[in-house]
Amino acid sequence: MREKWSSTIGFILASIGSAVGLGNIWRFPYIVGLNGGGAFLIPYLIAVFLCGLPLMMLEFVMGRHFKASVVATLSGIRKRFRFAGFFLVFLMGMILSYYLVITSWVLAYSLFFILGVTIPFSAFTGSYYPLLFFLMSGIMSFVVVRAGVKGGIEKLSKFLVPVLFGMLCMLLLFSLSLPEAMRGVVFYLTPDFSKLFNPFVWTAAFGQAFFSLSVGVGIMLTYGSYMGEERIVKNAVVITIADLLVAIMSGLVIFPIVFSFGLDPATGVKLAFVTLPPIFQKMSFGNFWGAVFFLLLFLAALTSSVSMLEVPVATLIDSYGFKRKDATWIVSLVVILIGLPSALSYTALQLELFGKPLLDLKDFAFGTIGIIAAALVLSVVAGWFLDPGIIFKEIKGGRKTEKLFLLIIRYFIPFVLLINLVARVIKPD
Ligand code: PHE
Repeated sequence: MREKWSSTIGFILASIGSAVGLGNIWRFPYIVGLNGGGAFLIPYLIAVFLCGLPLMMLEFVMGRHFKASVVATLSGIRKRFRFAGFFLVFLMGMILSYYLVITSWVLAYSLFFILGVTIPFSAFTGSYYPLLFFLMSGIMSFVVVRAGVKGGIEKLSKFLVPVLFGMLCMLLLFSLSLPEAMRGVVFYLTPDFSKLFNPFVWTAAFGQAFFSLSVGVGIMLTYGSYMGEERIVKNAVVITIADLLVAIMSGLVIFPIVFSFGLDPATGVKLAFVTLPPIFQKMSFGNFWGAVFFLLLFLAALTSSVSMLEVPVATLIDSYGFKRKDATWIVSLVVILIGLPSALSYTALQLELFGKPLLDLKDFAFGTIGIIAAALVLSVVAGWFLDPGIIFKEIKGGRKTEKLFLLIIRYFIPFVLLINLVARVIKPD
């Protein structure tokens, strides 16, 4: 018997757990900072509601209809699409292998703050400690996924997602009470409309939207395969809005801190690890706030890692008859092995390729280009080869909604994704 979520709320919280991750709290604010502040919200909202949300619904539709993970579902549509399924599983493993590295950094920093020790990022990554934390994060995700859909993933998310939201609210109040908070908020939300003429701001918005919502790579499809009679449209809207809310709130946490301590808002990727820790150390009760901030990041990252791990695990179970326990062992070992080089790329070993750390390269190849390519494949396969009758039966909308939905997934999404892909390949950043 296929496992099922024990309740609708469990399903919603697990999906929110997957969507809300490093992408919302750490990536979204700096992408906004680099791409026109408040004006960025326009392309972002378009990307989220016109592409991300319909794709999420589509994944739920496929998962629930076929009651199977990616490979079995795609080969259920047409035999030859099995390979597209393998591509998604491969991509998921690759993304997870470096996502776990960053997860392990935030785990390390939460422990440092809880213990009250100060370790600069360069000293941390210059040692071999990151490897230890990398293994720890891998083991934690392994334990949760091994415990199953209901007993592991759902239980964890039901507990962590509310905790996470509470911590975020606490940080928000703290941040907004800082002396220069308003300047940060103004920077964050004041639109610079001239940026909207820059096509790369748009591609940044689409990439960010897919990554943040965890759509296009088969996670929501896998989670959808454990659904019961839940209403797809309503739940997908709830999940999307929750994800958006956390992203916007995270910006309201970060920018007041950045401005109150005279930092450069456009530091980008390094913001969380290089710039923020010394700031926390300087403020009163800094160890407490630092611990809250990094724990928040860690918990958010953990529920996302777990969802990524579930994709290959469910595939081994569905398509190759493995037991969950064995499947989880195998996938975790493989992911840890392929993750090792990227874990080492920020240690004393400094593994690099073309002058860039392996981790950054993987993020670009898989987390940026790969995810858009996967979403493109998924929307074409589902839009053009899946019987529309199945889609309509699952989403239960009126005639007009059905027409609109079909137009969006057949023409709009593939078109937009194709442009994105080309633009990304031409100009990576
Ligand atoms: N959505 C997660 C985040 O925002 C990351 C993620 C991407 C998870 C792709 C699964 C698949 O961090």
